[in-house]
Amino acid sequence: MAQRFSTIWMDSVDSTNSEIVRRLPELDNLSVIAAVDQTAGRGQRGNSWKVEPGANLTFSVLLRFGGDGLAPVHAREQFCISMATALAQVEYFASRGIAASVKWPNDIYCRNRKISGVLIENTLSGSGISRSIIGIGMNVNQTEFPPQLLNPVSMAVLTGKRYDVRGELDAFLPILGRHLEMIQTEEGRKKVAEKYLEHMYAFGESRTFIDCSDGKPFTGKITGVTPEGRLRIETAEGALREFAFKEVSFVL
Ligand code: BTN
Repeated sequence: MAQRFSTIWMDSVDSTNSEIVRRLPELDNLSVIAAVDQTAGRGQRGNSWKVEPGANLTFSVLLRFGGDGLAPVHAREQFCISMATALAQVEYFASRGIAASVKWPNDIYCRNRKISGVLIENTLSGSGISRSIIGIGMNVNQTEFPPQLLNPVSMAVLTGKRYDVRGELDAFLPILGRHLEMIQTEEGRKKVAEKYLEHMYAFGESRTFIDCSDGKPFTGKITGVTPEGRLRIETAEGALREFAFKEVSFVL
């Protein structure tokens, strides 16, 4: 699958995810749009994603399902795309000597610092996913970050090296390709789900979380993720709870 990615580099664009949407009629499955400068990058929870132009990787990958594209994925299994994307990044960072883990649902963390953020936008058609836009912002060479960012880190900060960002994208895509290959089958999706738990940030640790419905903190341990991608937490009182994205947050 790796050789089928085709990458378009742009000097400047508002958001690579938005650019994919605008160019949908002309883009095939596994098209990649990467930007040197992203002027209005979008993050999760309606946040913006701002990075130093040219220093980092900001790119989006278009997946098309069905027909000539990837094997169909049922809507209730869409979290497998997040898991595959996250695991591909963990493996890629490991190949650069960087130990990373997945902070549910798909942030990539090195200890308590965020090295990469992901915005996945799926389009459903009936009970299946017709397309997915995987937007990834990886901190590569940036060494200074705005103070309002809580806990950012980059590859350069962690290793003291500087990287050729285009070369790093070329190195990452085949790894992503292998993980996308895995989610083509039921058995592969099972393996991806198992591997996701192995690489999960704070898995099994007693931690403080915030219940976003009332803003109250509680203590508990992550015990897993449901097939739909809801986070399973066993509270200190022994209750088994499940949370969708935005229903719970971590206290770092
Ligand atoms: C997050 O909030 O952690 C997600 C950040 C996702 C940023 C990437 S950069 C490339 C792609 N284009 C966007 O506008 N957002 C994603």
